[in-house]
Amino acid sequence: MFHFGVDYYPEHWPEERWREDARLMAEAGFNVVRLAEFAWSRLEPSQGTFDFAWLDRAMNTLARHGMHVVLGTPTASPPPWLMSLHPEAFLVRETGQRVSYGNRRNYSPTSAVYRDYSKRIVTKMAEHYKHHPAVIGWQIDNEFGDRDYDAPAFRSWLERRFGTLQRLNERWGTAFWSHEYGDWNEIPVPLATAGVPNPGLALDFARFCSEAYVAYQRMQVEILRKHCPEHFITHNMMGFRYELIDYFDLAYDLDLVSWDNYPRGFWNIAADVDPSTMALGHDTMRGLKGTNFWVMEQQAGAGGWDLVSVMPKPGELRLWAYQAIAHGADGIVFFRWRTARHGTEQYWHGLLDHDARPGRRYHEIKRMGQEIARVGQTIEGSSVKARVAFLLSYDSRFALQIQPHNPGFGYAEQFQGLYRALHARNVAIDVVAPSADLSRYDLVVAPSLYVLTAKTAEQLERFVEAGGTLLVTPRSGVKDDANAVVELPLPGLLARLCGVVVEDYDSLPVGRSNALEYAGVEGAVGSAWCDILTPHGAEVVAHYGEDYYAGQAAITMNVFGRGRALYLGTLGNDVLNDALVARLLDLAGLEPGPSEVAGVEVSERWLGGTKLVFVLNHTESEQVVTLADGVYHDLLADRLVEGELRLAAREVLIVQAEAQA
Ligand code: GLA
Repeated sequence: MFHFGVDYYPEHWPEERWREDARLMAEAGFNVVRLAEFAWSRLEPSQGTFDFAWLDRAMNTLARHGMHVVLGTPTASPPPWLMSLHPEAFLVRETGQRVSYGNRRNYSPTSAVYRDYSKRIVTKMAEHYKHHPAVIGWQIDNEFGDRDYDAPAFRSWLERRFGTLQRLNERWGTAFWSHEYGDWNEIPVPLATAGVPNPGLALDFARFCSEAYVAYQRMQVEILRKHCPEHFITHNMMGFRYELIDYFDLAYDLDLVSWDNYPRGFWNIAADVDPSTMALGHDTMRGLKGTNFWVMEQQAGAGGWDLVSVMPKPGELRLWAYQAIAHGADGIVFFRWRTARHGTEQYWHGLLDHDARPGRRYHEIKRMGQEIARVGQTIEGSSVKARVAFLLSYDSRFALQIQPHNPGFGYAEQFQGLYRALHARNVAIDVVAPSADLSRYDLVVAPSLYVLTAKTAEQLERFVEAGGTLLVTPRSGVKDDANAVVELPLPGLLARLCGVVVEDYDSLPVGRSNALEYAGVEGAVGSAWCDILTPHGAEVVAHYGEDYYAGQAAITMNVFGRGRALYLGTLGNDVLNDALVARLLDLAGLEPGPSEVAGVEVSERWLGGTKLVFVLNHTESEQVVTLADGVYHDLLADRLVEGELRLAAREVLIVQAEAQA
């Protein structure tokens, strides 16, 4: 069953209202609700006193209207009694201050006492709901994150990692500035008050913080697996943009990846929605386990805590939900059902406004609900097939947070710039870990593999040797696993594969760029960082046009085995990225996607030999799209179509075609 539903907080509303809510949900075509994720104070009103009666009643009302339930474990928002009893369970901020009560997600994931209380509430819930017929799955906690600057836990993690202080001192190079540690208790956390930290220490601290949540989640996973083996277990992540947790590690213990998608959620990013930003979020989430995912919170209205973001325009909620499906979502759950009257999120709008009258947004999603009832079955289980992979290295991302090099050099921005250029050509993309099996891809884009292991370097060599096309970008192969700079000419372990040496480099002043001489391409420039390259077997693809390195290589290409490795020495503007991806596709023998009308996304899901083509008009006006030769079944309108089609602003078309041999 394709899961289509909403996040609901019955505890925010009088019980007399529940039945009407359930009725309206069913009318909208919903078949699933997520419940209870912040309801700890209702489920355990005082220490050791549990009350599930209200939730049972809410679930039964919803179940009578056909809803399945995903239960949230409520550990993201501990009740006041718990934190008053154990203020030591609050996490510590970078400033060294322990947080105080009043928000959520502010506990320390390594706190033994917090883990004990968490175990207890999760066990009680699991025992109570293991046989409830409406329950299909569990969401653990809510959007894990935030680093906990708690020194004792970090020290024991380091002891497990290094075994001896001698090894730690050696790996971090603590002879620098006399930081040689003689006792585990001397080791600090990288507090803001300490200033710029040792990069080895800071990277291990980032890893520790990420692993702390992985371990805390695993504790809950084990309880739920034991009691509820029939239910799936997920966690709602935050897509590509979140950068404090290694999501590959976090996803490892889960049955299903889900995430929260808010294209216009925040005041500062709400003005212009870039479809490639959402697409990258979806592709990243699909890549975590290499399989379909859910959107557990799909934007349902304007976002807002203190500032209110732009209201989604007519058609956008449905368009974004279909975009998620096009990228592999098998479940869409809107956040939230009704806009809350109280609390920090009074202006985080749901499908219904405060007054609960079904309005424009409700009706838009109800229309989608009717469509899903007809086509959901066809879509579910089909999958995205990509020949292009982007490597997402959380180690490199963490290490570049510690030393960003240049205010214009962002790991995520660089990644997204290259992704956007390929997305604009409607190419299917997987986002995978550097350790992933690359043999099924023709093209691999590896943005700044700054922290590089010998294993990854060998794997990339094997990929290219076997005929693959690889793009490597600046600041690759610079650091080893301990975040120490390698002693090799850069790009270090990738120099042989790329047939190039970084002879010199330049960190450009803000606002400056270097015009590139790239045959046939007008307006290509590099900014923020310029690696000045000396080819050692590679052919020069582009030269710098300015400064003391004018005429020296900026982009190179090296034939290696049956494939080729390209080295891009700078951060390209859109012109450069676009020209480069065209060349990469050509080299890899890949065709761009079916349509190239700007702002119209075309994405495919495959069902065996049959493909479903999603055409998504993200623009503000009608567009004409031309289908490849053949007759197609327009699934939403249930009619046969061919040739040129008109697609209204923010409209969606899903056509089914037999695979062309
Ligand atoms: C996140 C959380 C939700 C809610 C929304 C809106 O995605 O998971 O609980 O807070 O943001 O702020």
